[in-house]
Amino acid sequence: MTHGKSLWEYAGGDPRINVLFNDAMASDAQLISSSVIEKCKGVFMGLESLVDVGGGTGTMGKTIAESLPQLECIVFDLPHVVSGMQGSENLKYVGGDMFEAIPPTDAILLKWILHDWNDEECVNILKKCKEAISKKGKEGKVIIIDMVMDNKVKDEEYVETQLFFDMLMMVMVTGKERNEKEWVKLFSSAGFNNYKITPVLGSRSLIQISP
Ligand SMILES: C[S@@+](CC[C@H](N)C(=O)[O-])C[C@H]1O[C@@H](n2cnc3c(N)ncnc32)[C@H](O)[C@@H]1O
Repeated sequence: MTHGKSLWEYAGGDPRINVLFNDAMASDAQLISSSVIEKCKGVFMGLESLVDVGGGTGTMGKTIAESLPQLECIVFDLPHVVSGMQGSENLKYVGGDMFEAIPPTDAILLKWILHDWNDEECVNILKKCKEAISKKGKEGKVIIIDMVMDNKVKDEEYVETQLFFDMLMMVMVTGKERNEKEWVKLFSSAGFNNYKITPVLGSRSLIQISP
């Protein structure tokens, strides 16, 4: 804020912050990706293509591409994040801006993306996702991995984690954590009428949405 830039713009101009942030994300992705594949592999079955939007340096994308070799994966992120990254047989890196356009695909993964943005920004991102999945002419889907706030939980540490994340998002970026009702409001505002929430690990859930 002092420099009149968002966290993403600031990281784009400071290689040290860029590497530090991407490494932190990769560390979390390593933890979550194995749980997602173990518990929710079926979510990716039958898909021919997947774009991991805001996929960072590709830790999650690589795990998915390796365990589903028939799936064509794209890790899509800002150019300064993916420049110089090496893909593989079924994994490509593409630089771009999710507010402008997302490559056409059967499915989109948004891991730890929507909690970074306010409601209006999230609806814009989800509308771009809808455009990208509709270009393939199939019934596409968006797979969200994020927190679903739950105020009925009694575990104090769990509640504390949710609240710390909520504050962190408000301080660092323009986002927040959301409860189920708030998530559903975003989905319907962007034209997604179906959703299914599956708990993955700790406070993190996998939410599948389709038009
Ligand atoms: C919280 S990180 C999550 C990274 C990764 N999905 C993960 O969970 O490990 C958010 C990501 O969104 C990317 N991002 C921010 N603005 C973007 C934009 N306009 N277009 C594409 N990616 C963007 C950032 O560069 C960053 O990699």
